Amino acid sequence: MSSPACRRQGVQSSETKDNPEFNILILRTGVYEIMDKKVILIAEDDPKVGESLRLLLKKRGYDALLASNGKEALSLFRREGVDLVITDLVMPKMDGIELLEAIKGLRPETEVIVISAQGTIERAVQAMKLGAFDFIEKPINPRVISLLLERALEKQSLILQNRDLRSRLEDKFHFKNIVGRSEKMVSMFELIRHIAPYDSSVLIIGESGTGKELIAHAIHFNSPRASMPFIKVSCASLSEGIIESELFGHEKGAFTGAIASRKGRFEMAHQGTLFLDEVEDIPPATQIKLLRVLQEGEFERVGGNKTLQVSLRIVAASNRDLPEEVRKGNFREDLYYRLNVVNIHLPPLRERKEDIPFLAHFFIDKFNQKYKMNVKGISQKAMNLLIGHEWSGNVRELENTIESILVINHPEVIDLQHLSKEMKEGKERPEVIPIKIGTPLEEVEREMLIQTLKATKGNKRRAAELLGINVRTIHRKIEEMGEPYSG
Ligand SMILES: Nc1ncnc2c1ncn2[C@@H]1O[C@H](COP(=O)(O)OP(=O)(O)OP(=O)(O)O)[C@@H](O)[C@H]1O
Ligand SMILES: [Mg+2]
Repeated sequence: MSSPACRRQGVQSSETKDNPEFNILILRTGVYEIMDKKVILIAEDDPKVGESLRLLLKKRGYDALLASNGKEALSLFRREGVDLVITDLVMPKMDGIELLEAIKGLRPETEVIVISAQGTIERAVQAMKLGAFDFIEKPINPRVISLLLERALEKQSLILQNRDLRSRLEDKFHFKNIVGRSEKMVSMFELIRHIAPYDSSVLIIGESGTGKELIAHAIHFNSPRASMPFIKVSCASLSEGIIESELFGHEKGAFTGAIASRKGRFEMAHQGTLFLDEVEDIPPATQIKLLRVLQEGEFERVGGNKTLQVSLRIVAASNRDLPEEVRKGNFREDLYYRLNVVNIHLPPLRERKEDIPFLAHFFIDKFNQKYKMNVKGISQKAMNLLIGHEWSGNVRELENTIESILVINHPEVIDLQHLSKEMKEGKERPEVIPIKIGTPLEEVEREMLIQTLKATKGNKRRAAELLGINVRTIHRKIEEMGEPYSG
């Protein structure tokens, strides 16, 4: 007899002992594997039904979270790592259909099972059309719901495996996805090839939109860790309160709201690569803890006393001059040296203008494929303008420009008339926006945010500076607008 986790790793079960408290299988070799309990979120306003379902799921070995309406369920869904949702249809504040739509919008691979009572069958059918996995009628039959859960989770895991395989295949040729013929880029590719096989930490420094994330991927997929996870942490978007729990995970009850224990990104990246994006934004207290993990490879979950060990490679990125941040006392020097074992400097587009024609054609091909178009190319005059333009948003801005020309103009060949007036006149965007008296403040704020982000070519840090707010605040506001603005 061997547990699924043992079979996966081909390890004899006699060599292992279970640790029920942490769901961690400890192997004699000192290697451990985390067997995660599936987390199921129940949204049900009838406390009796909800509670009995919760108990049933617990008995079946799942971790169950219970919310008494759709709104509460959605906020739990955002916060906790939920694998599957069971929702009632009629609930106060936010009903089951709205919840389903929100979940499918946030994470489409999450399966949702709908509970329908008498008189809501029509709505259950509507839910199926909106992507629900199945529906079950009240009173809930324990056997039926258990079977449904197994089927839904199996389907989900197949989809995830498939997607993982596909993306790995695509990424295998990832160098193809990084365009660069300039001397600076070619020597950077050489450097990546050299350092990718080793585990040393890499620090990528480059302005916004220069391709830092792309390079981080390339390092991972060219390393022996390629078949293991690549996990990203956007340090700037995490508030001080939650960054440690995001990085190191937390135990149930570690703080108010920690209803279930949860793996952190370090655990998720075990044997793979952890990408710390916007690393300069890690708060000082967390910098110390991070240093310890990097030095010793050990950490504890928040609220936990068990020391966990992970093996991973760290790739960090920053669009700041980190040595300057060290001098100013904002970033720990010892942590900087730990991260900066290999340093990759990504030059801005203005220092490699010879790449612009190749990038432009690459993006035309990319969006031709994506939008099933047949744009043939770009006129020499238009290309000259692209080459001469000051791309403060770097490759991302160039990419967005080509995409919007294709989508808006659908031209046969991109020509001067398709380029913006500001670009032709070599001017930046206007710095004044007209706002009517009486416009609700909320709308003013939204417009101001969008226009400032446009003016900074999607550079959130610069936009935050201009607006006099914290970069985390800007991340939060963009999220609240529900319209991720990336450039
Ligand atoms: N050399 C390149 N070849 C092809 N595409 C590129 C290249 N560099 C960047 N891109 C594209 O430009 C966009 C921005 O790149 P990426 O997200 O890696 O930049 P970044 O430096 O991480 O930006 P930010 O600082 O804003 O996070 C992506 O869509 C990426 O695919
Ligand atoms: Mg990035």
